[in-house]
Amino acid sequence: MGGAAVTHPNPYVDYARMDDLHDLQEPATESPFELQFILLSQVKELLFRMVQLEVDQARARVREDRPEAACRALSRAARHQRTLVGCWESMNAMPVDEFLGFRDELGEASGTQSPVYRLLEFTLGNRGAAMVRRSDFIRFPRLRAELERPSLYDEVLRHLYRIGLPVPEHVLSRDVTVPYEPDRAVEDVWATAYRSPDKYRSAYELAEHLLEVAYQFSRWRATHLLVVERMLGGKRGSGGTDGAAWLRKINEHRFFAELWTMRSAL
Ligand code: HEM
Repeated sequence: MGGAAVTHPNPYVDYARMDDLHDLQEPATESPFELQFILLSQVKELLFRMVQLEVDQARARVREDRPEAACRALSRAARHQRTLVGCWESMNAMPVDEFLGFRDELGEASGTQSPVYRLLEFTLGNRGAAMVRRSDFIRFPRLRAELERPSLYDEVLRHLYRIGLPVPEHVLSRDVTVPYEPDRAVEDVWATAYRSPDKYRSAYELAEHLLEVAYQFSRWRATHLLVVERMLGGKRGSGGTDGAAWLRKINEHRFFAELWTMRSAL
């Protein structure tokens, strides 16, 4: 704590370093909308971190074969995700001409480069070295470390095996650093739990909580796409993709794929 903070303490400001927080935004223009854009981007980054912390907790509880505790963490994650989706309301308050007024200042900056967003995806189970720039693996070592750990979904499938469900060996021993390939036998395992929810209560409850997290993630992506269409139409993204068209493909991805596809078999 320096100078004024020592001579004029303010416990609220000093505890969470609120003055530093309000010094973190450096808009390149005078536009109050650019300041709000940066503020909202920072709010979302922090919320991604909140979600990741809960997903990490859920994974630890699943490893301990404590599915009820994992469900509580997933419920908390979904609450933060709903707040994240709500943030798009504030972003939509920005008129398109105001956005275009400072858009060039972004240069090549794009959400695709968000390490915490990728960390969250990796933790949940959407992963692969190709999703992150090599330089980011060096700058943010947690990303590489996360890729080498089993994801939440990997741990869930191992847990299902331990409680007696027939998850195949090749799924249990898969290379966790590469993208997960949906598996027919895993789809059958989930379908079994859904056909007899009383018999497989804990697996069923876990599935429902996972699905809610996956659902909220897809809602965030879908709303982001709408905001992008509203702000950019068909223009290219600052990160170099063809913008909305690229995001539409990303929107097809589902976390915990078999939890979605097994519904056709019910
Ligand atoms: C006016 C507001 C926004 C526009 C027009 C916009 C536009 C885009 C576009 C076009 C992409 C595709 C990649 C590229 O070429 O850049 C993208 C990706 C992305 N954006 Fe945004 N974005 C906006 C706000 C935000 C905010 C506030 C966040 C969160 C902090 C965010 C997070 C992301 C993420 C995480 C991706 C990568 C998605 C993925 O790889 O799954 N965006 N954005």
